[in-house]
Amino acid sequence: MFCLFRWLAGCAVLWLGASLALAQTLRNAAEERGVLVGTAVRPSLLLSEPRYAGTLSREFNMVEPEDAMKWWVVRPARDTFDFTQADQVVAFAAAHGMKVRGHTLVWGRTNPAWLKDLKATPAELARLLHEHIDRVAGHFRGRVFAWDVLNEALDENGSLRPSIWYDQPGFGYAGKGTAYIEQCFRWARAADPNALLFYNDAEGEAMNAKSDAIYKMVRDFRQRGVPIDGVGLQMHIFDLHPDIGSIRQNIARFTALGVQVHLTELDVALPVAPDGRASAADLQRQAEIYRQIAAACLASRGCTAIQTWGFTDKWSWIGSKSEHTLGAALLFDHNYTPKLAYGALRDSLATSPAAPRKDRGH
Ligand code: XIL
Repeated sequence: MFCLFRWLAGCAVLWLGASLALAQTLRNAAEERGVLVGTAVRPSLLLSEPRYAGTLSREFNMVEPEDAMKWWVVRPARDTFDFTQADQVVAFAAAHGMKVRGHTLVWGRTNPAWLKDLKATPAELARLLHEHIDRVAGHFRGRVFAWDVLNEALDENGSLRPSIWYDQPGFGYAGKGTAYIEQCFRWARAADPNALLFYNDAEGEAMNAKSDAIYKMVRDFRQRGVPIDGVGLQMHIFDLHPDIGSIRQNIARFTALGVQVHLTELDVALPVAPDGRASAADLQRQAEIYRQIAAACLASRGCTAIQTWGFTDKWSWIGSKSEHTLGAALLFDHNYTPKLAYGALRDSLATSPAAPRKDRGH
């Protein structure tokens, strides 16, 4: 009798464990919670690496092309638009019931050489940019649900960053503050009236001069009816002791304006040895950061998406950026084995306290 009881209890434990393991992907946890969990993707790997594609569709319900919608990919020459790579991402997403975030219509950096070398007048640049927004957002109409309209337009201190679009020579609004950003949003709304339009930036994750400037701009846009629906906080973390309370407060103030917040490029870079390994203590700390950042998002009802900048350490921009002194920034290791960070993010999605009702975001 005792044996039978133990056997049954053992079976129950096994069954429970197995069904939890089956049920509890990031994607399931996010869907139960009604939020999006996404990642940046590289189209070539969708075909060349089955584990890449398999992990992606199992664990995420949103994707964003890491580079495939940027100017240098979609517009290799002034009069050539090439959507091949971006279309691969969109097709993959459609086949697996995932949403697509578009990134990015306007950016002062990573532009193709022909654009940097172009000696255009402001009026010509205005035509070029308007045409670009029209063609790109138009091509993906109905398939990209949210666009980063503008990326990284502000400096660390909150002033406008010099760029070809703003003042070098700019497309007609040099020295006129955020007026050029406003024009980009208006063009984007006209190109795809149903897409959610985001301003995306780095270094404004916590309460600071830069996030104050973003806040002021978004508040002004909302008050004057400029079409903006959200703020993307990139969330590339290099500091292993980020001020989570301040990040949480920042997210809450944006959502209180009635816009959504998406965490758009989350990764947590760790110091790594030449073989790419991080210390056990740092991996644990990293997991804690993923957990707390997800909780900071989920504490505001209007924070609706958590997206990482890639998902396997095998393919992450952090190593190439730091010349391989930093790395191991993502949720899965080089062999697609989930790291502690993976479990922490999943637990946070499953168990973080719900946002209070007074939060006015949507
Ligand atoms: C990076 C990509 O990860 C790299 O592949 C590319 O070479 C350069 O751009 N902020 C952004 C992203 O908004 O577009 C950047 O992506 C990372 C920083």
